[in-house]
Amino acid sequence: MKRYSGKKISTAVFISGRGSNLQNLINFSYKKQSPIEIKFVFSNNKNAGGLKHAKNKKINTFCILNKKTSILENKLIELLNKKKIKLICLAGFMKILSRKFIKKFKGKIINIHPSLLPKYKGLDTHRRVLENKEIYTGCTVHHVNSKLDAGKIILQKKIKIFRNDNAKSLAKRVLLEEHKIYPKAILKIYS
Ligand code: GRF
Repeated sequence: MKRYSGKKISTAVFISGRGSNLQNLINFSYKKQSPIEIKFVFSNNKNAGGLKHAKNKKINTFCILNKKTSILENKLIELLNKKKIKLICLAGFMKILSRKFIKKFKGKIINIHPSLLPKYKGLDTHRRVLENKEIYTGCTVHHVNSKLDAGKIILQKKIKIFRNDNAKSLAKRVLLEEHKIYPKAILKIYS
C-alpha cells in the first residue's frame, strides 16, 4: 500500500471501555499509509481498560467524568479546538453526544458499530441478532449524526452466523472484522 503523502490528520479517539479498537487504531496510525495521527484519547470513564494502550504509547489521555453533558462537552470542545482535531473516532464510546456537539464537528465524527446497520442499532446487538435467527451479521463504520447509529455508512463487513454461535463467539468474530474495517474506512474517507 502506498505511503500517505499529505499532512496527517489530527485525530482524537473517544473510548469508554476495553479499547481493542483504540489499540488497533493506534497501531494503524503508525503505518506509512495511515492518514491519521492520534493526538489524544478521551474517556468518560477513568477506569476504561483502553487508557493503558494510549499510555503505553505515550499518547495523551484525558478523562472528564462530569455527569452533566453540557459541562463535559464544553471542556471537551475546548480540548479538541486547542489540539486542532479534525477527526474524532468513536471506539466503544458509551456516552451519547449532544446535537450541539455533533453540529460543531459536523462530518468529522465516525463510529464503529457491531451490526449490519441500519439493522440492530443500539446495545446488545449480538444477542438480538441471534434471537431473531439471522443468517448474517457484521459490523459497520459510519458517520455520526444526531440520530443513534444512523449516519451515512462508510464501510461494512458481513459475516455468516454459525449454528453453534452464541453472543460471545459472535462478538469475538465480529470484533476481528471491526479491527479490519475501521482502518479501511479511514483510508476510504481520505483516499
Ligand atoms: C465494539 O464492539 C464496538 O463496535 C462497539 O463497542 C465495542 C468496543 O470494543 N461500539 P473495544 O472497546 O474497542 O474493544
